[in-house]
Amino acid sequence: MPIREATTADWPEIWPFLRRIVAAGETYTWPRDVDEATARRLWLPGPPARAVVAVDDDAGTVLGTAKLAPNQLGPGDHVANASFMVSPAAAGRGVGRALGVHVLDLARAEGYRAMQFNAVVASNERAVALWRSLGFAVVGRIPEGFRHPSRGYVDLLVMHRRL
Ligand SMILES: CC(C)(COP(=O)(O)OP(=O)(O)OC[C@H]1O[C@@H](n2cnc3c(N)ncnc32)[C@H](O)[C@@H]1OP(=O)(O)O)[C@@H](O)C(=O)NCCC(=O)NCCS
Repeated sequence: MPIREATTADWPEIWPFLRRIVAAGETYTWPRDVDEATARRLWLPGPPARAVVAVDDDAGTVLGTAKLAPNQLGPGDHVANASFMVSPAAAGRGVGRALGVHVLDLARAEGYRAMQFNAVVASNERAVALWRSLGFAVVGRIPEGFRHPSRGYVDLLVMHRRL
């Protein structure tokens, strides 16, 4: 599955599924009613952040996207952070795994020494299993750090792996 650098021209394809994922309120600590300009600024902030898209082989349709950025500033910027959104229409077809592998390689190439996820919702079983299978360990747990729309308060996980 081709994965390439995201451009501003990809945004109109990213926004509908990103908005849907955020509005569901189950996986991201973003305002559920985030407006388009804010979402675009958060997802495509420009360097040193990088964003990529996974596209359909034939049509070139955007199936999912990932963002890579330093997790901290200054002396903490050797640890990367990454975020992932796969279109619900393309879920379960290996897009998330392909993006994960790609972003780990990209982070290594950019010179990062580790990758950290700050807020993986513990009830997001698919994501937790995927990150574990890609070598991440849970290094922290924020008790009831997330208000899930149907499950109530659930834990947030900090996940980490060296590169
Ligand atoms: C999490 C997400 C990125 C995964 O993307 P995806 O393309 O659906 O995932 P994949 O098809 O690559 O599947 C990943 C793995 O999860 C497994 N999986 C699927 N559903 C699962 C479940 N309910 N429990 C455990 N594992 C599950 C799959 O079997 C697959 O494993 P495999 O590659 O060994 O077969 C995607 O669902 C998404 O964007 N969700 C909304 C936003 C989000 O949660 N982002 C991540 C925040 S930490």
